[in-house]
Amino acid sequence: MIVLRVFAGADKFLQIFIASFSAVLRSAFMSFPVDFLWGVATASMQVEGAIGEDGRGVSIWDHFTRWMPESFYEGNNADVACDHYHRYRDDVELMRQLSIKAYRFSISWPRVIPSGSGEVNKKGLDFYDRLVDALLAANIAPWVTLYHWDLPLELYYRGGWLNPDIPKYFEDYTRAVVARLSDRVVNWMTLNEPQCIVGLGLHQGEHAPFLKLPLRDCLRAAHHTLLAHGRAVKVLRTEAKMKANVGWAPVGVVFIPASDSPADIEAARKVMFSVNERNFWNNTWFSDPVVLGRYPEDGLKLFGAASPEYNAEEMALISQPMDFYGANIYSAQIIRAGKDGSPEKVPSPVGPALTMYHWKMTPPCLYWGPRFLFERYKLPVVITENGLAGCDWVARDGKVHDAHRIDYTARHLMELRRACADGVKVLGYFHWSFMDNFEWAQGYKLRFGLVHVDYATLKRTPKDSAYWYRDVILANGKNL
Ligand code: GCO
Repeated sequence: MIVLRVFAGADKFLQIFIASFSAVLRSAFMSFPVDFLWGVATASMQVEGAIGEDGRGVSIWDHFTRWMPESFYEGNNADVACDHYHRYRDDVELMRQLSIKAYRFSISWPRVIPSGSGEVNKKGLDFYDRLVDALLAANIAPWVTLYHWDLPLELYYRGGWLNPDIPKYFEDYTRAVVARLSDRVVNWMTLNEPQCIVGLGLHQGEHAPFLKLPLRDCLRAAHHTLLAHGRAVKVLRTEAKMKANVGWAPVGVVFIPASDSPADIEAARKVMFSVNERNFWNNTWFSDPVVLGRYPEDGLKLFGAASPEYNAEEMALISQPMDFYGANIYSAQIIRAGKDGSPEKVPSPVGPALTMYHWKMTPPCLYWGPRFLFERYKLPVVITENGLAGCDWVARDGKVHDAHRIDYTARHLMELRRACADGVKVLGYFHWSFMDNFEWAQGYKLRFGLVHVDYATLKRTPKDSAYWYRDVILANGKNL
């Protein structure tokens, strides 16, 4: 008996030893793919400034910052923002010095087609031409987002995303951009966060154009965003001069299982792919039509008569094949399987780790988010945004010591690396953001950059995290 017990104990010991040894081995071999894309992201409205220059039309954000300043932190506007329009050369040079491999930026629709439809503004396109050339000269891959929320004001007056003609206008705008840039740009994203375009802009009234429309109208507008996406993909496929690598960048609404038990994992997956609230904060209402060619059943049931009308032809247009699935992921909710197995939210601990935006720090969102999305949509994943608003200022020594950003990013990247090790195809990671910028209704209150911007002088100061990120890139994440 005793002998047996000792033997059983030894066996247990051996098991633990093997398990921890293999965990160490596994983490030693865990790495990002060799060609992993290390990037940074921005968006036109948030960084460019120069809103009245070279024939640019007015965007809804210009309009609302001017006429409804009380809706923005301290009445901030994006007239100058980071002045990227004039300083892009220096910004690209800084990216080069930081060993950045890819730059995700967006094109301003009103810069290219000032009134949203009709005449193309050559000078507007010239800017992106110069930017792309500067990037390529610095060996940085341009990743272009076609729409990151700066709708031409003229289109808003014609109904904005509610106008059934808007997908066609978006197609024409895409055509103009593609004609000009696709001899050098390969990587394209159609829309940034359609959930926010509709949810924040049209439903909750928190973003321009600050509307609180009935659900039925919002669902119609959402349908138009999907049609616009489909039309743009078609243009990219048929008219790009170099074979286009096409995706989009929706919000990644992520749910993390409370443990590795199959029941918790299943519960989290279930919530992640369901529509259970009458709002726009979900993945499937947007991504199922785009990738799987159908609206999700639970959403159709929940929205009922408010659901949009559409036909098979429209659904075929929406579900153009894509090359990658972009996801903007910052935080997540933890889920466990309740007693009867149904999902329940796990309350956060008292005094959670919070960013300056009061978003909770939940690093496994960069494991479970890409994993669940890859399993469902079977497309390679690109993390098109991840980062945090920090409490950053220039210290007495002239530097910006943002230890929290380094820690946040390291923890998230380690989870992403674990996802890669477990077979999730992840092509790249874009940190939001390259530099501090105009954070929509939050104005300049929140600083998301790896690079600090002094808005009085427009001076750029790379934060400690920028140098740290450079070292991560140079080591392809092996130093994490
Ligand atoms: C978004 C946008 C970015 C934001 C960033 C921080 O997700 O809202 O894509 O423009 O600035 O996410 O909030």
